[in-house]
Amino acid sequence: MISRNLHNDLEGYAEIKEEIAVLKKYGTDFTLQKGEVARIINLHHPKKLSLRISQIIHETESTKTFRLVSSTRPLPPFQAGQYINLFVEVDGVRTSRPYSISSPPSQTAYYDITVRRVAEGFVSTYLLDEVKVGDIFQSTSPSGQFYHNPLFHGENLVFLAGGSGITPFMSMIREITDRGLNRQVQLIYGNRINDDIIFNKEMEERSACCDNVTVHSVLSEPADGYNGLSGFITAELIKERVGNLDDKMFYVCGPAAMYTFVLGELKKLGIPKRKIRMEVFGPPPDIKSQPGWPEDVSINDRFDVKMKGKTTIKAKAGEPLMNSLERAGIVVTASCRSGECSLCRTKLVSGKVFQPRGVKLRKSDRAFGYIHPCMAYPLENLEIII
Ligand SMILES: Cc1cc2nc3c(=O)[nH]c(=O)nc-3n(C[C@H](O)[C@H](O)[C@H](O)COP(=O)(O)OP(=O)(O)OC[C@H]3O[C@@H](n4cnc5c(N)ncnc54)[C@H](O)[C@@H]3O)c2cc1C
Ligand code: FES
Repeated sequence: MISRNLHNDLEGYAEIKEEIAVLKKYGTDFTLQKGEVARIINLHHPKKLSLRISQIIHETESTKTFRLVSSTRPLPPFQAGQYINLFVEVDGVRTSRPYSISSPPSQTAYYDITVRRVAEGFVSTYLLDEVKVGDIFQSTSPSGQFYHNPLFHGENLVFLAGGSGITPFMSMIREITDRGLNRQVQLIYGNRINDDIIFNKEMEERSACCDNVTVHSVLSEPADGYNGLSGFITAELIKERVGNLDDKMFYVCGPAAMYTFVLGELKKLGIPKRKIRMEVFGPPPDIKSQPGWPEDVSINDRFDVKMKGKTTIKAKAGEPLMNSLERAGIVVTASCRSGECSLCRTKLVSGKVFQPRGVKLRKSDRAFGYIHPCMAYPLENLEIII
């Protein structure tokens, strides 16, 4: 029987064989570098970081900055505006919260996170009251999409911040002024009272020394005798301060209530969605006031959540499902905790949840019943697969 190598009949086979032979002789043998790509990726994007608190800076009555240094390896680079998700254990519950990095990316020795107290907040209260220099935490690597993209965002930027929402902007402003970047920034920063303004002195100094950064502070409950801007960040105020709106890119960051209000004001000004970048700081404080919340469900209703192959737990309607799971000792992988990153994606086998506007579910998630437990509120008994 005559045996024939069928490969020889394939077009280009001989040329490829020849090329492989040449590469073997003169080229780089990539098999020798096995794992190199993975090593470099892990160097810049490790899954977990071990961070030690090296300093705690008192910013305002309700806010502290925690300076975090790496306890094991160089800190990965990040873009001004990104956050880390900090893992904590509070009263025996393993949970996490994202915090934007407020230090600039040009500072590679540490990450600063600046935390404001949330009334009865589980983690912010713990960080502000219990944590001390030397404590060690795990976190994710820096992540998030809330950063300047020179190709799409241009150089004329308007930052609209509320309360603790100043932190990603502080990182950006520090980077722009430290590096002398060619970007025009107008920051409109809303707070309740003067003492609540985080980074007040530093922002004044930076805007005084750099013509391309202007800061407009707005107080909603100013003290008697105050003669600065007052009220909320309204359409009129934005228009009056910013002037020409056409060539600007708007960035909005703050607690859920501020963000909803400011988006409405930008809409009134006719700013198209593609010219608005947003970051919401955590779940809405009053979920039942969100559009679409069913009238017949009270936030105090409790439902059974059955996990396939695991236990059944109780979960409150008015609280993100992820919190109830964590309280029962079940930790779901998470990063943004605001419905954006998809890391916590979980299969909903049966039952109904409420997912507020802004949760970035893919079309396929909706079609095949996936939810983001960080921003999903149970409305019935549920069965899920984690
Ligand atoms: C990308 C990103 C970046 C952030 N960066 C910063 C930052 O730089 N600085 C900063 O201070 N914060 C930041 N945050 C917010 C931060 O992650 C936390 O949400 C914040 O510190 C509050 O956490 P907490 O555990 O103290 O509050 P929680 O206990 O989680 O409470 C938060 C809200 O959820 C509701 N809630 C919680 N539990 C219940 C319950 N059992 N029943 C009913 N309602 C409930 C409450 O209304 C409360 O207002 C950021 C958030 C995101 C998503
Ligand atoms: S943790 Fe990011 S979507 Fe839930």
